[in-house]
Amino acid sequence: MCGIFGFVSEDKLNVADIIIDGLKRLEYRGYDSSGLAAVINSKIYSRKQSGRVFELEKVISRSIKSSVAMGHTRWATHGKPTNKNAHPHCDCTGRIHLVHNGIIENHKELKSKLEKRGHIFKSDTDTEVMAHLIEEFSKKYSFEESVRLTLESVVGAYALVIISADAPDTMIVAKKSSPLLVGFAENSKFVASDVSAILPYARRVVYLHDGEFAVITPSDFRVATLDRKKVFRSQELIEQSPVDLAVHGFLSAKDEARKNNFPHFMLKEIYEEPEAVENAIRGRLIVKDGLAKLGGLESVEDKMKRLNRLIISACGTAYLAGLTGEYMLEEYGGMPVEVEYASELRYKKQLFDARTALLSISQSGETADTLEALKEAKRKGVLNLGLVNVVGSSIARETNAGVYNHAGPEVSVASTKAFVSQLAVLSLLTLFVGRQRGMSLVMGKRIASELSTLPEKMRRVLKEAPNIKKIARKYHKHGHFFYLGRKYNYPVALEGALKLKEVSYIHAEGYGAGEMKHGPIAMIDKNFPSMIIAPSDSVYEKVVSNIQEIKARNGKVIAIATEGNKEISKIADDVVYIPKMLEMLTPILSASPLHLFAYYVGVMRGYDVDKPRNLAKSVTVE
Ligand code: M6R
Repeated sequence: MCGIFGFVSEDKLNVADIIIDGLKRLEYRGYDSSGLAAVINSKIYSRKQSGRVFELEKVISRSIKSSVAMGHTRWATHGKPTNKNAHPHCDCTGRIHLVHNGIIENHKELKSKLEKRGHIFKSDTDTEVMAHLIEEFSKKYSFEESVRLTLESVVGAYALVIISADAPDTMIVAKKSSPLLVGFAENSKFVASDVSAILPYARRVVYLHDGEFAVITPSDFRVATLDRKKVFRSQELIEQSPVDLAVHGFLSAKDEARKNNFPHFMLKEIYEEPEAVENAIRGRLIVKDGLAKLGGLESVEDKMKRLNRLIISACGTAYLAGLTGEYMLEEYGGMPVEVEYASELRYKKQLFDARTALLSISQSGETADTLEALKEAKRKGVLNLGLVNVVGSSIARETNAGVYNHAGPEVSVASTKAFVSQLAVLSLLTLFVGRQRGMSLVMGKRIASELSTLPEKMRRVLKEAPNIKKIARKYHKHGHFFYLGRKYNYPVALEGALKLKEVSYIHAEGYGAGEMKHGPIAMIDKNFPSMIIAPSDSVYEKVVSNIQEIKARNGKVIAIATEGNKEISKIADDVVYIPKMLEMLTPILSASPLHLFAYYVGVMRGYDVDKPRNLAKSVTVE
């Protein structure tokens, strides 16, 4: 993963101010350590520090100015998150420094060859090998040629930025599989892992393609392929609002104020869930005709009519939204659906035919597993659709057509409002394909009209917060949890468990409630509580039986049930009520209490819920 930011300028810029600001905008990509390097009087100034970017801020000089500088915020892959493993890494002479996002797969064999030639390694990373390789080639070749030969020698993924004290005006950048772009301002050029870090300085950008490298000086910008072919890339104008700017990641210190009066982004974003759904459905519902209008799919509408299979590919919470979508699209949309972890799909034999489409779901639009699975499917000629939050992100750009969920910036690492907005778009998609293939006008109108009532009902659910907080207080010291649901609420149970794990580090398992009796029930005792989603729907009676099975074994039960259900309060230990809703849409109501519960438990256990340990907002390594 990791975030990269740098500049090359005709002027001498303040390194600390600009690089730290860029790194803070990219911190969502990793926050276990960070570092920066700048060319100053033909020498390299470099500092790195474990921990968040503000820790780096404490150890750097605030006054240094430079025309060539770069920084890195890390999410550890090879080597613990220590000072020595933080980037930048350098060669033996300390004159070549580089920052890297990605994984070098053949680093072990390269390292052992270099060690035999006398190179001394200072870190446990895969990255460092490239600094020593450039050093080795530099004995015979120019800086540019040494970088090119190094890139030819490595196997794996990289976004790379390299500077050398011997070429003090030059920065070389390269890309393969990991994102990298260059922004152009009047006197300066900026490089970054994503556009959010560049937009405060420049709106004209060039996205490097895989297998390309660029040489950047104050007066020049040249792109070439590894086999030395010149490439001309025209600049794209990014038209994003300040709100879009923040979508990609953590905001700068100044922007922290945008938490409004919420103690954490996670809580703020849970409270934004109704608005996120409102934004997802705005202008897309024609209730009187029972139709969904999805402008992003108009160009492929006819192709979609002919589909007989939809494969949904995603990771984490987006995958769980996809699982819920499978129930919706099959039952109401009449579309056969398979949902795959993107990380598995890429390596499976993909048996696609002309009537199959792939739908990639991603909040960030930058998740490497999802992006790579999509590229693989693209090579096979499949229709590629996207459901993405971040406008202009890699997945949004790679797909043939798609729908933005318009959830707004999601800053907290734990995804909350993006999940409910993904569900809202999947409901719209269900209506869209359903009406293409036999869904009646009456049913279309019913779904459209229920969808339009969601935001108001979600706001009612949030009024349950004090009750949920009280329940969290009662259970926050438990070490284990089951999350159970059936049919539409089975994926939501998985989402509840994932959220609790992420922000409270409690062991939580999600199961289909009916699956409990096939093994997991052995673990139930008075110390193993279960959160059970039990709205009054087509499987309610079955779920009640599952609750009874748990109660008979002294298990504690927290139930999420439909308003007016008195029966459940007699069997469950604690109840959170949600309004009555069309079964297909209940997951959008049952998600918020689970998000709130995880939030409160995480806070009560004293954790930084916005930036949980070991995680990153956007996972850009496979
Ligand atoms: O940006 P994406 O939606 O592609 O991210 C996918 C997962 O990495 C993400 O949902 C992750 O599981 C979240 N931390 C869940 O809260």
